[in-house]
Amino acid sequence: LVLVVDFGAQYAQLIARRVREARVYSEIVPHTMPVDEMLARRPKAIILSGGPSSVYAEGAPSIDPALFTAGTPVFGMCYGFQLMARGLGGEVAHTGAREYGRTAVSVTESGTLLADLPAAHTVWMSHGDSVVAAPDGFTVLASTAVTPVAAFEDVARGLAGVQWHPEVLHTEHGQKVLEHFLHQIAGCRPTWTMVNIVEEQIERIREQIGDRGRAICGLSGGVDSAVAAALVQRAIGDRLTCVFVDHGLLRKGEAEQVERDFVAATGVDLHVVDAEKRFLDALAGVSDPEQKRKIIGREFIRVFEAAEADVLARTAQTEAGAKVAFLVQGTLYPDVVESGGGAGTSNIKSHHNVGGLPDDLEFELVEPLRTLFKDEVRLVGEQLGLPAEIVWRHPFPGPGLGIRIIGEVTRERLDLLREADAIAREELTHAGLDRDIWQFPVVLLADVRSVGVQGDSRTYGHPVVLRPVTSEDAMTADWARLPYDVLERISTRITNEVAEVNRVTVDITSKPPGTIEWE
Ligand code: XMP
Repeated sequence: LVLVVDFGAQYAQLIARRVREARVYSEIVPHTMPVDEMLARRPKAIILSGGPSSVYAEGAPSIDPALFTAGTPVFGMCYGFQLMARGLGGEVAHTGAREYGRTAVSVTESGTLLADLPAAHTVWMSHGDSVVAAPDGFTVLASTAVTPVAAFEDVARGLAGVQWHPEVLHTEHGQKVLEHFLHQIAGCRPTWTMVNIVEEQIERIREQIGDRGRAICGLSGGVDSAVAAALVQRAIGDRLTCVFVDHGLLRKGEAEQVERDFVAATGVDLHVVDAEKRFLDALAGVSDPEQKRKIIGREFIRVFEAAEADVLARTAQTEAGAKVAFLVQGTLYPDVVESGGGAGTSNIKSHHNVGGLPDDLEFELVEPLRTLFKDEVRLVGEQLGLPAEIVWRHPFPGPGLGIRIIGEVTRERLDLLREADAIAREELTHAGLDRDIWQFPVVLLADVRSVGVQGDSRTYGHPVVLRPVTSEDAMTADWARLPYDVLERISTRITNEVAEVNRVTVDITSKPPGTIEWE
């Protein structure tokens, strides 16, 4: 275990992911956690993240310097580097020299941390203060035009740090520097592999559920719930029942993927509810996006609970005393971190006393992905043999195509959008670009009409908007620069093959100021 101490920068999650890419398990803890508590978890190393403040600013987050002499290896990045320098008697000054973004760094002595790195390379910086003198016993390894001490190490004490952000993509050799610290200086062994994760999670699920009953899991068609269900299925077999609510707002082929491919790959016991009519009736006449979300959310819970009640009744008939005590959810580590929780198994009880269920029914949550990042979930999915279409699916919002039709949602409009969306996805896959794109919404401007000409006659149809974006976490996003020939094929095919659509546009707004979805 490596702990990443979060000083309030947006980089802690990225650091934790990079540590895991170095095949070492990591978790994030807040900087407010007492050092004793951190050490009590017996980490092999501790990493101090960057942070938004100056170490001298009033109320700036700090850390007990006892951390640096406790014998546990520590690596400081950016703000964490300055805290280490200051905590051990070095000097941090507000020199007025700031460095933001790409910065050239010179390696003056490679030591262990910067071994095999080119003498000059580019890193990503973001700081106002600088370390001007390293603490006693440290070797200075690098500098920049304005920062005399940009990296240092004291290998004997297991301490090292860099002023830059090795975790960001724009830093050359960042991963190598992190691995030098983890593997060489801290002596962490690279044992965090997918095979181990799968085995460990299955073991944990078995321990949690034991013979205390059955479990139920709602499948959305997305990768998270699918992987969570597949893990639980491996652990407890047919004591798991999955419920899939088809609300009619899915994309072309998605319901089949769950009903056929997922079941074929896992052998899971699946209960499908066809609720298309119910959702479309409830959405009739509604154009306001927030109202659509509310209706879809409300109906979803009702349908899901009715399905749970069905499953309960069914199992009660076939097995005397059978009880569904566990609810499986695909909660991921970023959700856990953002809600301030720990990564251990959650003991939260979920009350489900709405709908057709007994009032006192309580589910204990089973959340086998609580410690994992999305990219790890995909690898676990591959390891479990799930179909690539499910494992590599782009994120898809709960309200589905309902919020990609700008205007009222009707069956006809959904069918149009499904066709256009399927073409866009097909061409993206055909171009081999699925994994370069975070999400690719196709939006139907159903209340807008545009004039066109097709086959010598005037048409009066609808425009669709292509919204391919790149992102790491959906919090920020950039519009994807898809190759013109791919865009051209999508445009030609949509206007040829989808009656009613006579215009294809591309959204070139980043997030912020835009959002990924249109509503
Ligand atoms: P925005 O549009 O806010 O979306 O940039 C960020 C991410 O969230 C997804 N999204 C939703 N997911 N229910 C969901 O489950 C929703 O109501 C919803 N709205 C947006 C969106 O697809 C993107 O991944």
